[in-house]
Amino acid sequence: MRILITGGAGFIGSNLVLHWLQHHPQDHVFNLDALTYAGNLLNLKEVEGNSNYHFLHADLRQPDVVKNIFIENKIEGVLHLAAESHVDRSISGPADFIETNILGTFHLLEAARSYWGNSPDPRFHHVSTDEVFGSLGPEGAFHEETPYAPNSPYSASKASSDHLVRAYHHTYGLNVVTTNCSNNYGPFQFPEKLIPLLIHNCLAERSLPVYGDGRNIRDWLYVKDHCRALDLVFHRGQTGECYNIGGSNEWRNLDVVHLICDLLDKELGRSGDDSCRKLITFVKDRPGHDQRYAIDPRKMLRELKWSPELDFQMGLLQTIRWYLNNQAWVEQVTSGSYREYYRQQYNV
Ligand code: NAD
Ligand code: TYD
Repeated sequence: MRILITGGAGFIGSNLVLHWLQHHPQDHVFNLDALTYAGNLLNLKEVEGNSNYHFLHADLRQPDVVKNIFIENKIEGVLHLAAESHVDRSISGPADFIETNILGTFHLLEAARSYWGNSPDPRFHHVSTDEVFGSLGPEGAFHEETPYAPNSPYSASKASSDHLVRAYHHTYGLNVVTTNCSNNYGPFQFPEKLIPLLIHNCLAERSLPVYGDGRNIRDWLYVKDHCRALDLVFHRGQTGECYNIGGSNEWRNLDVVHLICDLLDKELGRSGDDSCRKLITFVKDRPGHDQRYAIDPRKMLRELKWSPELDFQMGLLQTIRWYLNNQAWVEQVTSGSYREYYRQQYNV
């Protein structure tokens, strides 16, 4: 198959491109990415020479370009990940979130509809977040019928894109599936999100900012478990359906911070006054900070036999070791110094 993965140079997208080329070696993977600050081709170095991998430098906000991509590359299926993805950035500057997450998704849907016509076969898989459901109290978990109640500009823009995808199925018969996943962690995550930021700051001996009282809860999932779930839903999910993907792995933020400090102390041989814990700093809370997310993943288990494989402590240790071994990557993505190389190579 000829698969279009949007946002394939980002965190989850690049893990997915690597997963796809490994598990579906006959498929052609077209990676459409605008290479914003969050996207970079360093993540995909190991597949640069693979003749089934194709990078397309393009922006979803340009409808004609997106339409041509379907035609020129005879696209037979889409996994849509490209988005602005960081809640804090959506609070300080929501415009990009509206343009990429809502309008960009609209342009992609239009391109798919116009290229595929009424064919029921080609699949459009929309990758979304559990944040569309809003914030939970101490009990319960988000399931597929939980009403939408997004609280941040990020989650509102993702909720809006989910509704557009749903409407294209009901109105035009587009073969869509949507997945709503909990917080991911793992290799290639830009060090602005909690886990890579903590690792990065520990190594740089910078403070570890904990928003509010650190009691907010997230349900963490290793990115490769997410990619396995996406693969299953793309191939075997029921058309028009939504699937919640989660780790059944709830942690208070402060406990995540402590765990990372302890794991890093061991890796680096730090202890006592030298411990990473001394860097913990409570800072002003995020406006509208959602208290708790948790996913009820029973539909994924029941229908697709999916459950997470990697336990959190092991996943965190692997992630920490990945960042320790790839400090040059962190340096390059935070400074943008790799861009010159790709500018010459891909003319981007
Ligand atoms: P990311 O920010 O790491 O990557 C986003 C990618 O999209 C980047 O490569 C960027 O260059 C690209 N992009 C942004 N705007 C674009 C545009 N206008 N045109 C083309 N490309 C553009 O994001 P991520 O964390 O990998 O998330 C991927 C998807 O998964 C998003 O849709 C996000 O909402 C969803 N999601 C993320 C998480 C998480 O924990 N990270 C959890 C659930 C769902
Ligand atoms: P984040 O990784 O930004 O993901 P999201 O907001 O999409 O869940 O944040 C995860 C949690 O960690 C969230 O409750 C906010 C909190 N947080 C901090 O306490 N300090 C930080 O520096 C960051 C980035 C997040």
